[in-house]
Order: sequence, then C-alpha cells, then structure tokens
Amino acid sequence: MAQSTVNLPYFDLLLDFIDQSPTIKTAFNRHVHWGYWPNPQQARFTAEDFAIAAERLSREVYGAAAIANGQTIVDVGCGFGGTIASLNEHFADLKLTGVNIDPRQLDRAKEWVTPQNNNVINWVEANAIDLPFDDASVDIVLAVECIFHFPDRQQFLKEVRRVLKPGGQLAISDFLPSDILANIPLLKTSLADYSFYGGFDISCTINSYRDLAQKTGFCLALERDITGETLPTYDCLRQLGAELKQFEPSALFQTLALEFVSRLRLLNYWILKFDRW
Ligand SMILES: C[S@@+](CC[C@H](N)C(=O)[O-])C[C@H]1O[C@@H](n2cnc3c(N)ncnc32)[C@H](O)[C@@H]1O
Repeated sequence: MAQSTVNLPYFDLLLDFIDQSPTIKTAFNRHVHWGYWPNPQQARFTAEDFAIAAERLSREVYGAAAIANGQTIVDVGCGFGGTIASLNEHFADLKLTGVNIDPRQLDRAKEWVTPQNNNVINWVEANAIDLPFDDASVDIVLAVECIFHFPDRQQFLKEVRRVLKPGGQLAISDFLPSDILANIPLLKTSLADYSFYGGFDISCTINSYRDLAQKTGFCLALERDITGETLPTYDCLRQLGAELKQFEPSALFQTLALEFVSRLRLLNYWILKFDRW
C-alpha cells in the first residue's frame, strides 16, 4: 500500500479496521466527517444512521455552491471520495478531481467510485496549498471538514483563488471557535505524533474568516452555523469507538474535549461559501 506523507493517526486506525469491521465500514466507507441531522432529536446513533447523516452533510456543503452539470469541480482533502461519489451520482458531464495528501485514501477512493452520468473522475495526490491545476481552470472548489489540517488557511485560499475561474466558488465546512475560546493554545497542534487527529488548527473565528476572504480576493457569501444539527455525531462516535475495542487515550481525550466545547457552543460547526471576485 502507498505510504502517507502526513501523520493522521485516525486515518491509520480507520485503514487498519475498515475492512475488518462491517460496522466501521458502514459508518466510514464513504465519508469521514461529522453527520448532519435536520431533526437531531430523531438521530438513532447507529452506523447506518451516521452514514446517512454524513452523506447529508456533504450535500449541505456542496449545496452551498451553485453546482451545475458540465462544471469542473475539485474536492480538496477528499478522504475516501464520498463527496465526489455523491456529485457523480447526482450530476452529469462533470469533470471531477479528488485531491488528497494521503495516497492510501486515494487508492481506496479509486477502487469504489465508478464514473457515471458521463462524468470524468481523477484522483490526484497533492498538498492543498500547492494545487496542480492551471490558473482560472476550475468552477467550484470544495473542502469538506479538512481545512483545519492544511498548513496555512491563507495560502490555501490564495491557491484556490488562483485556480478558480472568475465568478467561481469555494464551499467548505470547518470548526470555528467563539471569541472566548479563540485564544486557547490547545486549538492548534503541530504535535501530530501525540494527537489522534494529527496536526490541526481550529483557532480561526468567523471574523478571521471575513478578514482572510477580503485579503485573498473573495467575498464570504454564506455563513451558516449548523452546530446543533451535527451534535448527534458525538453519540455515534462513542458507539463506533466501542466497536473498535482499541483504547487510544488521545482519541478519547480529544473527542470528549471537542464534544464538551461544542455542546457549550464554544466551538461551532459552520458551512462557509466564498465567491471569487
Ligand atoms: C476529516 S478528513 C475529511 C475527508 C473528506 N473531506 C470527507 O469529508 O470525507 C480530512 C482530510 O484532509 C486530508 N488532508 C489533510 N491535510 C491535507 C493537505 N495538506 N492537503 C490535502 N489533503 C489533506 C486528509 O488526508 C483527509 O482526507
């Protein structure tokens, strides 16, 4: 199997277990992100329910952009290819590219996502801050729940602006801290060796995003806080963690900490859409 150049212990664990546990496979074969429940009180916390909710989250994110048949669309940090798969199923004549820094994930995506509806799909190993695409060549860029791993948000936004056609759009989902939480150093870690979720930076507030958008030639056209609709994810993760029968102290600590600050609405889950000037 190809090696990863980035340290993401949660993906190492997933890749080890996904083909051994039908439950883990049901939950994560397609998407590796939080779920979206329009009625959170109706969440059932099963692997099947979680997978449906994760599919909904992808649709909410790409639904923020004006996707249309025939477009060129890049999904950066594409995981196992679930968002590309969903676009492939619902639209036609698309030129789709999934980008990931981890070739092991791209190998899995290649195996199960089959082009249909006259769509063309490519899988490209690259770093989000150095995209291998021509200037003004892409209609839509997506980054579902991954920007916090990228080495530099501003560099990523600049790079996306370069590859987008004028009028093009970027839709993302991200964890945004409240102003109270924003200055806590634990929101950034480059200590990927000790962190279940690898290196991350969840210190960018909505005001920082507005500034970044302005600096990099975007208009922040949609700001949508969907924290409430994502909270059942934590109950699902508890069930799925028990299924793994692996005790990873940093997994437990980091997930509980995320849940704690999310339930207090100190850390919120947003969908953002940027229009390129
Ligand atoms: C939480 S997962 C989300 C995966 C996928 N977007 C999804 O929603 O299922 C974060 C993803 O970001 C990718 N990633 C992390 N750093 C990256 C980078 N610098 N460039 C490209 N992809 C990166 C990881 O390999 C992983 O696939």
